Amino acid sequence: MIMRALIVSLLSVGAVAIPTAAFAEEPIQPITAAKPKNEKMVELGKMLFFDPRLSKSGFISCNSCHNLSMGGTDNLQTSIGHNWHQGPINAPTVLNSSMNLAQFWDGRAKDLKEQAGGPIANPGEMGFTHELAVGVLQSMPEYRTRFKQLFNKDKIDIGMVTDAIAAFEETLVTPDSRFDKWLKGDKQAINQTELDGYKLFKESGCTSCHNGAAVGGGSFQKFGIHEPYKTTNKAEGRFAVTGKDADRFMFKVPTLRNVELTYPYFHDGAAATLEEAVDTMGRLQLGRKFTKDENAKIVAFLKTLTGKQPEITLPILPPSVKDTPKPKPFG
Ligand code: HEC
Ligand code: HEC
Repeated sequence: MIMRALIVSLLSVGAVAIPTAAFAEEPIQPITAAKPKNEKMVELGKMLFFDPRLSKSGFISCNSCHNLSMGGTDNLQTSIGHNWHQGPINAPTVLNSSMNLAQFWDGRAKDLKEQAGGPIANPGEMGFTHELAVGVLQSMPEYRTRFKQLFNKDKIDIGMVTDAIAAFEETLVTPDSRFDKWLKGDKQAINQTELDGYKLFKESGCTSCHNGAAVGGGSFQKFGIHEPYKTTNKAEGRFAVTGKDADRFMFKVPTLRNVELTYPYFHDGAAATLEEAVDTMGRLQLGRKFTKDENAKIVAFLKTLTGKQPEITLPILPPSVKDTPKPKPFG
């Protein structure tokens, strides 16, 4: 607060050029570190995020597909769910997902709380039901105590589960990337090639869609503007939610934060490398074919967006008890 007051007052007298104000002119803003509102809620949410007993098999947790050791993704073209089910779409990262205007590629969940109920009951993901998942948690004294402390109720319900998971997810932000340091005025934080890449990224128009603190996540846009995107994937984007023809193949613009870690790319996971993704974006979204050198510069810039990954102490989960429903890994 003191810092801010100082900056404002200096600005108002126009005394000096202040590097921290520099990013106000940029289409991308630095990420601010998470300030958890309720540490106990975050801790419970973390336990649930890592607890595979929220799945029918007792084997798949949120972290199976959103692995926090791998940029919050599974690095698979499409995810593997219950019964080795081949998922229909690429798993987006949970890192910085609190900044999205809505959740999922087609935005069908309005926020993280609404989203978190989805995978538990999705037959192709965790394959369970909300009732059964809650029953598993309710059977364990430690979970009962923790929920009671936070919600002051004896009976756990799915709303409490999703509240806690969302509170944990809100802490999964990645500040202090080299690019953010540059934005804040440390001109040595990125090298000339990376800076050239940023200029190309801006000047060629990437920032019309990939902007803000998350470098994306703020709008739905058509994939395939100058030429259609060719894929065998059946996803139709926003059309699935609104039923409007104009929304066909409109997808949520993904965040490019930590994009170096979140391969493969696109909703169908078809682009294995950043080079390929940048080439496709240039041709399809901007009608521009980048030279090899330009492509390399943009890729170098994108790699400066990798931030400080959340430091996670693995939660130790309460053991199941005699009455805990048994996992059903097969069938
Ligand atoms: C079997 C793999 C799998 C599991 C398990 C799984 N997810 Fe996902 N998750 C996905 C896929 C795939 C998508 C994208 C689905 C879509 O957009 O239609 C997704 C989307 C999301 C998103 C939206 C991100 C964005 O940018 O739109 C969030 C947040 C998320 N999952 C959190 C969770 C949480 C919390 C859990 C545990 C309760 C969980 N996931 C379990 C695969 C999985
Ligand atoms: C008109 C809007 C728009 C413009 C301009 C645009 N993008 Fe995208 N970008 C998107 C959308 C939408 C997607 C998601 C496409 C999909 O998979 O359905 C995307 C996906 C990506 C991805 C893959 C991210 C991931 O996690 O799968 C990268 C990388 C990317 N864009 C980089 C760029 C670069 C570099 C430029 C400039 C050359 C650019 N984009 C220009 C809208 C845009």
